[in-house]
Amino acid sequence: MAFNVKALAPGFGAEVSGLELREGMDDGLAQTLISIWRDAGGLMVIHDQQLSSEQHISLSRYFGPLFGDLGEQPLQDTVSQYIHPDYPEIYRVSNQVDNNGQPRGRKGAGTYWHSDVSFREYPAQASILLGKQVPETGGDTIFADQARAYEALSDAMKKLIAPLYAWHDFEIAARTQYAKPVVVEDDMSGTNRARHPVVRTKLETGRKSIYVNPGFTSHIEGMHAEESNALLDYMQKHCTQPQFLYRHRWRKDDLVVWDNRSLMHYAVMDYPDDAPRYMERCTVIGERPQ
Ligand code: SIN
Repeated sequence: MAFNVKALAPGFGAEVSGLELREGMDDGLAQTLISIWRDAGGLMVIHDQQLSSEQHISLSRYFGPLFGDLGEQPLQDTVSQYIHPDYPEIYRVSNQVDNNGQPRGRKGAGTYWHSDVSFREYPAQASILLGKQVPETGGDTIFADQARAYEALSDAMKKLIAPLYAWHDFEIAARTQYAKPVVVEDDMSGTNRARHPVVRTKLETGRKSIYVNPGFTSHIEGMHAEESNALLDYMQKHCTQPQFLYRHRWRKDDLVVWDNRSLMHYAVMDYPDDAPRYMERCTVIGERPQ
């Protein structure tokens, strides 16, 4: 199948067009796309994908096992109400309400810098988000490349952070981003809390990235609160400098694949409720960060 690939931004990201994934994906095409994605620093946009839920799930599985796959640990209970009723592998994001008064998806999901599910021992690797309804303007998603941010640090800073571990806790986002009644007790029971290295190395490429994010990282182990807060604040400022960012302006039927091991993202909620936005996301379970 012939298709076009262009760079999205000078530092990272690939834009793929002219590809019809609903016609089927085989091992060869999957490996080609995974290589393009990997070589582009873990960000790939594939335009014009009118996929069924089954097609979305089956192509996502080429990246690895999905949250929601039978026998896998579910995402935290707060999120379970936004899981697709027929497809437990699909998490829904939307500002719309169904006829029965139920939200079509999580409103305002990810409106803060984060890396998906970093509060789990086995956090998300790829997230594969399909834009089924997108506002005419607004509702962009911004990505920050934490690998290039790491590489831009001084050797002294790299040395300082190399041995450090940080704690990631869903409660950080829950406290500020979720209405109290929506958060359930189990979310705070410790299953949504994990300790990860501040710098992680991608197994396939050996490339290092900063792996802390303001959404879920509570503190750096072994530091006084003031020290930890100062270092985390510095990391956020450093990682979100314009040269490390790509801002995605969604087109309907864009399929965006990002690597949570080396990218943070931020969903910009600047659109009104009468501008419908509906997205479906498959989330790949990754390895324990090293
Ligand atoms: C997310 O954090 O997965 C949501 C991203 C978006 O809605 O743009």
